[in-house]
Amino acid sequence: MAMVCLSDFEVYAKKYLPKTTWDFFAAGADDGTTRDDNILAYKRIRFRPRVLRDVSVMDVRTKLLGTEISFPVGIAPTGFHQLACPDGEKSTARAAKAMNVCYIASTYSTSSLEEISAAAPSSFQWFQLYIHRNRAVSKQLVQQAEALGFQGLVLTADLPYTGKRRDDVRNGFRLPPYMSLKNLEGAFEGDDCSEYGLPPNSLDPSVTWNDIHWLQSLTHLPIIIKGILTKEDAELAVRHGAQGIIVSNHGGRQLDGGPATIDALVEVVEAVQGRVEVYLDGGIRKGSDVLKALALGARCVFIGRPALWGLAYKGEEGLQDVLRILCDEFRLSMALTGKHFAGCFQLVMQRGYMQ
Ligand code: FNR
Repeated sequence: MAMVCLSDFEVYAKKYLPKTTWDFFAAGADDGTTRDDNILAYKRIRFRPRVLRDVSVMDVRTKLLGTEISFPVGIAPTGFHQLACPDGEKSTARAAKAMNVCYIASTYSTSSLEEISAAAPSSFQWFQLYIHRNRAVSKQLVQQAEALGFQGLVLTADLPYTGKRRDDVRNGFRLPPYMSLKNLEGAFEGDDCSEYGLPPNSLDPSVTWNDIHWLQSLTHLPIIIKGILTKEDAELAVRHGAQGIIVSNHGGRQLDGGPATIDALVEVVEAVQGRVEVYLDGGIRKGSDVLKALALGARCVFIGRPALWGLAYKGEEGLQDVLRILCDEFRLSMALTGKHFAGCFQLVMQRGYMQ
């Protein structure tokens, strides 16, 4: 089967993954309205292309908090990569390194932070944190990530409780017994680990903006807050010293009925006024989606499910294929809209079109 676009990987993953795994990857909360709108919203945006602008040399590199990446797409944090391929997050880390993009490793990885770091030494990795009720567990993970050379701490802010994903409930989704959440091994021994391999309600729902200061007291790493959708929260993130914001609705897996991320991006970018970097995830399926997000002010986007489909197809190589296709499509969209430098996007919306 020729893999031409990201949907081809989706079709493959759906056909070959066990149903419970496919359902877990695909799940949105409740009716899945926000999950689906993440994708549909891109189709409502049109370009205003310019021509005869010498696009013979295209430079798609950019920088995230000062670190250069080969094009403005990274790997969003997703849990349980061993469900997609045997080497799990180690394959993800190697693919990200080979493509020189940023990989955000999830707290809920099936490889440990040491293994992820060792699989791709000196690569560009951030660590994504969920704050647990047992703060000692979170503190230890943050400090371990910094010691291992992770370059950023991504705090996921939109999961005080896990959203209701109906198929996971129906399937009684659990991690297979031969897999474990390596970063949390031993932390919940003896507990009933029935919620995604963890005790129910192990995350701390009482987290507030003040806890950003607690995190700052634990680490020198820059803090990036993931899960912001409004100008008010964007302002609070800046005021609390975050160095980056990921506009995200968790791939529509948390609150159903919130905005598509590409729709929320504009108000966040306007509120932030360049004080911190703004990134986005959710619904990126084509190079032109990446371009639309950049044109509306994102510095970089991250992919969640498409990375899992790539891993399901051929592990590390499959994920590289996904990234390469996205990069080629992005480059082509830039050229066809008359842009040749990804690092300095000045596109603006005009009468509903981007120029
Ligand atoms: C996620 N996401 C997620 N986010 C996070 O901060 N920590 C995590 O462990 C996970 N785990 C996770 C598992 C799976 C199977 C999915 C699909 C998603 C959310 C993820 O980082 C990202 O926000 C979305 O996946 C982006 O949407 P797309 O690219 O999947 O449409």
